[in-house]
Amino acid sequence: MDHVAFREQFPVFEDIAYLNAGSCGPLPGAALRAAADVALAAAERGRAMPYFEGWLAALGELRGRYARSIAARPEDVAVTTCTSEGLARMIAALRLQPGDEILTAADEHPGLLGPLAAVQRHLGVRVRTAPFAELAEAVDPRTTKLVACSHVNWTTGALAPAALAEVGREVPVLLDGAQGAGALRFEVGTLGCFAYAAAGQKWLCGPVGTGLLWVDPAWRERLRDTAPAYLNLSVPADGLAAEAWPDARAYDAPAISWESVAAATASADVLAAFGWEELFTRAQALSTLLVEGLEAAGREVAPRGPSTLVSWTAEDPAATVAAASAAGVVVRPLPGTSYVRASVGAWNDERDLERLLQVC
Ligand SMILES: Cc1ncc(COP(=O)(O)O)c(C=O)c1O
Repeated sequence: MDHVAFREQFPVFEDIAYLNAGSCGPLPGAALRAAADVALAAAERGRAMPYFEGWLAALGELRGRYARSIAARPEDVAVTTCTSEGLARMIAALRLQPGDEILTAADEHPGLLGPLAAVQRHLGVRVRTAPFAELAEAVDPRTTKLVACSHVNWTTGALAPAALAEVGREVPVLLDGAQGAGALRFEVGTLGCFAYAAAGQKWLCGPVGTGLLWVDPAWRERLRDTAPAYLNLSVPADGLAAEAWPDARAYDAPAISWESVAAATASADVLAAFGWEELFTRAQALSTLLVEGLEAAGREVAPRGPSTLVSWTAEDPAATVAAASAAGVVVRPLPGTSYVRASVGAWNDERDLERLLQVC
């Protein structure tokens, strides 16, 4: 599929220069149709055992698609509702003790800082911060029991320091992959993290309420099972003797509607039909093009890495976003900063970037 046909899969581009996948990706029409088919069949045929079995099979299919997006094995990937859920589950799973230290960066997303603040408050764990780029050097192997940070910083688009892969040999590293999965080419097993939580609704273009969590199988035994629900149990009928699955299914969300699962799978199939390699390469190239355009227009672009987020300083970010919106261009301000952020995907084209450059 060429990039023109690919773009045509997403109805939003008929009118709008949509540059907001860092919040929610564009939804392909195929996702809506897949969800509608499931809903209609359920209404017409009822939801008996075949419905339940079909839903479980659909979950397995989505797991496989998610695994492909981060170059992992399906059995190491849990299907979750969002990035935040995966992060919170892993922080709870680590058996942290009072006095343990967690290292993070102060400008992480609330989806990560929220559960860290909770264990600080309720468990007596100490949370220390260091600048994102200096996290690897800031680790103290005697006291640091967890490093938790983003793979791609949500405000600047900077990448986590490569040296964290080395740190991960001694200290568990939890990566927030909300801006990584579906945006960048990488093999999750090479990042040095014990777990990687990501979103289905952002760069994977699925519905809100979908996400993924990769758990290194070498770590599985060291992690507590967090609130195992029916789907997480290998033999639910075992009653009080029931145990969670030995693989990442132990961390699946208790229930994600089949409609959402079907939509997320259809979205991933649209991306796969374009080609994962092409997806990552084209998004990178367009992001670089936007940076060049912004700099040529005298804008100060935030120090970033080879990601798909492009942020720049605006005198009045809210006014810039409003002006863009009035011109049919969707970008967003970032709370607590003077940045406006554009999220550039392979579904965008040069015209989107030109429309943005005209208003920012
Ligand atoms: C870096 C980062 N982490 C976490 C989140 C929260 O993601 P979710 O809504 O999937 O939990 C976001 C959302 O924007 C994000 O950018």
